[in-house]
Amino acid sequence: MAEILVLFYSRKGATAELARQICRGIESVPHAQARLRTVPPLTTVVEPPQAPVPNDGPPYATAEDLIQCDGLILGSPTRFGNMAAPLKHFIDGTSALWVSGAMAGKPAAVFTSTQTMHGGQESTLITMMLPLLHHGMYIVGLPYTEAALNHTKSGGTPYGASHVAGSSTQPRLTDEERTLAQLLGKRVAELATKIAPRSNT
Ligand SMILES: Cc1cc2nc3c(=O)[nH]c(=O)nc-3n(C[C@H](O)[C@H](O)[C@H](O)COP(=O)(O)O)c2cc1C
Repeated sequence: MAEILVLFYSRKGATAELARQICRGIESVPHAQARLRTVPPLTTVVEPPQAPVPNDGPPYATAEDLIQCDGLILGSPTRFGNMAAPLKHFIDGTSALWVSGAMAGKPAAVFTSTQTMHGGQESTLITMMLPLLHHGMYIVGLPYTEAALNHTKSGGTPYGASHVAGSSTQPRLTDEERTLAQLLGKRVAELATKIAPRSNT
């Protein structure tokens, strides 16, 4: 089995909903399975270590999750046109994996949620790719051959999956956002099964 790590941060649930749809796409690929992980929130107060498992949602990610995965799909809400600090903090702790090349040659992709249509989806997605490129990963996007990418009036970009949340407190993806999130998971999983069936070797 090729295992794809879907690693995300979500405060209000929109990015979490994209993550679930990406997992569905991954699990539609034979010999591929999803591992869903999140990162703890950050505060300006130094707090005692977080419990290893949050009160709800998926477990917190560890370096072992990154080492064991055959592909990585990284998600974050947009914060001032960039990824959220808790996810960046986690990535900044992966120097040892960068030194060892543990992530090199694995496929990767990114996803985000914004409040507004032009609130920085592209800038967030592209800047989220940069640490993945430093890690030597193959970046996977979304193709315009997919009708949903041409027709969407909300989220979904060639750079990765996305959602425009607006002021809604209940994340509700459009059909195109859902289709494209699933497709992103499927594309990473298909590539991972072709290039890196690590757990089979
Ligand atoms: C500090 C902060 C900065 C934000 N910056 C942006 C932004 O630059 N553009 C935007 O459209 N939305 C911005 N938002 C809104 C979130 O990106 C949006 O509500 C997103 O859907 C939340 O995802 P979540 O439900 O996964 O937490 C910001 C929110 C916060 C708290």
